[in-house]
Amino acid sequence: MKALIVYGSTTGNTETVADWIGDSLRSRGVEVTVADAAETDAEGMAEGYDAVLLGSSTWGDDEIELQDDFAELFDDLDKAGLQGKPVAVFGCGSTDYTFFCGAVDAIESRAEDLGAHIVGSSLKIDGDPEQDDVLAWTTEVAGFFQGAQ
Ligand SMILES: Cc1cc2nc3c(=O)[nH]c(=O)nc-3n(C[C@H](O)[C@H](O)[C@H](O)COP(=O)(O)O)c2cc1C
Repeated sequence: MKALIVYGSTTGNTETVADWIGDSLRSRGVEVTVADAAETDAEGMAEGYDAVLLGSSTWGDDEIELQDDFAELFDDLDKAGLQGKPVAVFGCGSTDYTFFCGAVDAIESRAEDLGAHIVGSSLKIDGDPEQDDVLAWTTEVAGFFQGAQ
């Protein structure tokens, strides 16, 4: 099975999480591509993948802002080919802000509207990411992906 992980990260936290998820899926025999949203074109992005994982940190304060690079991708997400695909969503944020991980909710809702099958409960990380939390989530999500095959 082939999985695509696309992340948007400004200070590196969501990038670290994306790499941990990638390593964990690879150790389960999944063929994984980890891509920075800054270098990813939404057009046909999901083609050839069995599962897609989307990650973004949240910015802004009184309103939800997706991480800059992911925001561009988000605008064109309708061209990504997510319909019918299992999709999992993750991101880093902080409960100090009004909309904790609002980007994760926004991506989940948009992917769902585009016909994706959201698997598991999205991963929302408060503060610095902990590898154990990420591994536990990845185990759950991998089970859904394998079940969907
Ligand atoms: C100016 C500013 C605004 C932020 N706004 C939010 C927010 O609205 N919601 C949230 O959950 N986190 C917010 N954060 C926290 C970041 O999302 C958090 O630091 C995250 O770990 C950054 O991840 P990244 O390194 O992958 O970009 C904000 C941080 C800053 C500095």
